Amino acid sequence: MDKKNYYITTPIYYPSGKPHMGHAYSSIIADVFARFKRLDEYNVFFLTGTDEHGLKIQKAAEKNNQKPKEFCDNISKIFFDLTKTLNLSNDDFIRTTEARHHESVKFLWNKLVENNYIYLSKYNGWYSVSDEAYYNEDEIIDRDGKKVSVVSGSIVEWVEEESFFFKLSAFKEKLLKFYSKNPYFILPDSRKNEVISFVKGGLKDLSVSRKSFSWGIKVPNNETHVIYVWLDALTNYLSALNFPNKEDQLYKKFWPASLHIIGKDILRFHAIYWPAFLLAADIEPPNRVYGHGWILSDEKKMSKSKGNILDPLEIIKTYGLDQLRYYLVKEVSLGNDGNISNQNIENCINSDLANNYGNLCQRTLSFAEKNCKGLIPGDISLDDDDKNILNTFSDNLEKIRSLIDSQHLNEYVKFVINRSFDANKYFNDQEPWKKKDNKKRLNTIVYVSLEIVRKISILLSPIMPIVTNKALISLGLNIKDLNIESIKEHLTNKPGTKLRNQGILFKKIDKSDD
Ligand code: MSP
Repeated sequence: MDKKNYYITTPIYYPSGKPHMGHAYSSIIADVFARFKRLDEYNVFFLTGTDEHGLKIQKAAEKNNQKPKEFCDNISKIFFDLTKTLNLSNDDFIRTTEARHHESVKFLWNKLVENNYIYLSKYNGWYSVSDEAYYNEDEIIDRDGKKVSVVSGSIVEWVEEESFFFKLSAFKEKLLKFYSKNPYFILPDSRKNEVISFVKGGLKDLSVSRKSFSWGIKVPNNETHVIYVWLDALTNYLSALNFPNKEDQLYKKFWPASLHIIGKDILRFHAIYWPAFLLAADIEPPNRVYGHGWILSDEKKMSKSKGNILDPLEIIKTYGLDQLRYYLVKEVSLGNDGNISNQNIENCINSDLANNYGNLCQRTLSFAEKNCKGLIPGDISLDDDDKNILNTFSDNLEKIRSLIDSQHLNEYVKFVINRSFDANKYFNDQEPWKKKDNKKRLNTIVYVSLEIVRKISILLSPIMPIVTNKALISLGLNIKDLNIESIKEHLTNKPGTKLRNQGILFKKIDKSDD
């Protein structure tokens, strides 16, 4: 595979209810990686969409007195609209009810049959409709008189019906070998260890069809069964590349996927079932699955019963989209659970955005407007202090790339925001306002500060595409014409360019009435 291709996906969301902050989180994280890679001149294919089959959706539609397809059309549209509201840069939005997906799932099913990994038998066991998952006996406990899964806490029901099975048990050793040959297939490491110990504990064959309801893709040659929704859903990652046409350019360029971003709750499906299905069908598994943590609302898991579901639209309305994106990337540690509260968002906006990056942009631009005729100054001479601060970018370019490639997103933002802190300090220490009779020095300080604004804005642009582009427009630039490599150069801000200050980037939140 060409090293310059990069295929990244979000989970496809159940359109069983309105999107919430957890969904927004998965999508924003994936978007940041997609944008960084595009800016680093990779061919990027970024996929998201909705997972529309199965009993969970059928029941939700019945509750609303709607036909499943009509119900899905409505809610899938809300998820689609959210991609615009979140300013996602996705290249495609797939729905599992689309014909292209049906074709791809049926092909995969037939391949599994052909390779002798599917057989007909009877399923007796526990099933959670809410997770669309089968659980072993030892994963079930009694809670308040109800049987629930220890894994997710969801209610399970007993199912006894004829079912097709996938020979998952045949994959125990193959998967363990695959994990050890591909040590970065599952990240973060803590999640990898969970998966490996689960697989070591032994894998039972997996029921991959249901008979007692009809909302799904029919099993080829046996229309009384629908294909298990997870086998159906996972295949979306192939369908969007025009699988089964392996000669298709999209498939050739982008499979295997570079990175599936998912929540930790759906790791078993992505890190065990998915590579097993693919290996069984002679298809290369993806390069990586990253299981992020949960977004908690006031330290608690969001749930309808607690009434603490966070609506991303409300937070965006109050604080702004880029502010929310920044908060999620900076303050939630990617592999772990993280909390959102108004207090935390406000602190983050004030300290990192208004007082730090926003202040840097504003003070250097307005100083240049007043003291350099509103132009990027030309007559400059860099001393060691200037070179040192500029070099922290060029010297760290490979480190920056590797933080992204290893999904160390929080470290990445910290690195960049610390550069902004250093640049503010540089501006204070250099005291350009005292250099009015040393024009060359004044020009140099302004020039260096503007150069740092340019570099930091480029590096923050995958996280805050709108606001950072305003900063770049102030410098007579546009992110469309820039790339990551260009943070290496020093003298790219063209002297003589007219500055077009776009005004204050982040309003400080007044917390005096708290
Ligand atoms: N349809 C399946 C995914 C199929 S992918 C082939 C599904 N859908 S979901 O809508 O329930 O969840 C989608 C994603 O949202 C999951 O990655 C899940 O972890 C994430 N989140 C849902 N609630 C969340 C939080 N509170 N916090 C963070 N993410 C969580 O699962």
